[in-house]
Amino acid sequence: MSNEVIELMTQLKNKVGQVKNVCVLTGSGVSAESGIPTFRGTEKSLWSKHNVLDMATSEGFRKDPSLVWAWYEWRRRVIRQSTPNAAHHSLAKMATLANKLTLITQNVDDLHERAGSDDVIHVHGEIMKSKCFVCHRDQAHETDLESAIYHRIEPPICAHCGGYVRPKVVWFYESLCEEKWSQATKAAETCDLFLCIGTSGEVMPAASLPELAKQKGAMVVQINPEPNDIDDFADFNFHQNAAEFMPRLLELLFV
Ligand code: OAD
Repeated sequence: MSNEVIELMTQLKNKVGQVKNVCVLTGSGVSAESGIPTFRGTEKSLWSKHNVLDMATSEGFRKDPSLVWAWYEWRRRVIRQSTPNAAHHSLAKMATLANKLTLITQNVDDLHERAGSDDVIHVHGEIMKSKCFVCHRDQAHETDLESAIYHRIEPPICAHCGGYVRPKVVWFYESLCEEKWSQATKAAETCDLFLCIGTSGEVMPAASLPELAKQKGAMVVQINPEPNDIDDFADFNFHQNAAEFMPRLLELLFV
């Protein structure tokens, strides 16, 4: 770690004082070091290789359900074969040391839970869960890891209405779950420290949370190897990989 980062950490420690109420927003960068691709930023990122309108809209699913289902089955396979990294573990540990910690994630994977975090607010849904495309009832589905490599897989059929089953994630042009969003905004508005980790901050409304926290008086700390618009208003920007940096931040603030 460079002298510059160590100096910034010292400044943070001096300024932050006693942390009481932490709100954390994570994005796909927090799972990058577990081998799960991000959406933007590199040529391996999902939206560099796939068309977002084909894979993440109800229109895309209506047009080619087997292509979309196969892609989500492949993503579930990648996630099932990945394990939480030190950033996920540090956040689970932080929740046990802080007076209060609310973990909001844009990630649809389950790595926070597998690292031991409880009550994670998944504002963009959960890829391991499924629901009916037509009647929206929850559906039980277990990915067959053997076949989750095919380019096209016909989705299962809802036992209730005969509609196709889809992943229980939020697609573009769809609304977030109102209850989750209200929990997320309340946590951002009432925290004294807001940690923003591994998100490009490009997708609304989740991207509005760090600025909301700042407006309500929280200190905003960003951890992301690449600069983005959040740098402009965050109190501290650590241009670091989450898995490397989060254990040090945990130690700095809570141990
Ligand atoms: P993005 O893919 O937009 O951004 C990933 C961010 O992670 C970038 O800013 C990278 O610089 C950063 N990053 C990469 N490696 C990292 C590392 N090792 N440690 C820390 N940060 C790292 O991901 P999100 O902001 O999560 O929507 O994307 C937001 C939403 O866009 C997603 O939830 C998804 C997508 O379309 C839905 O699924 C609805």
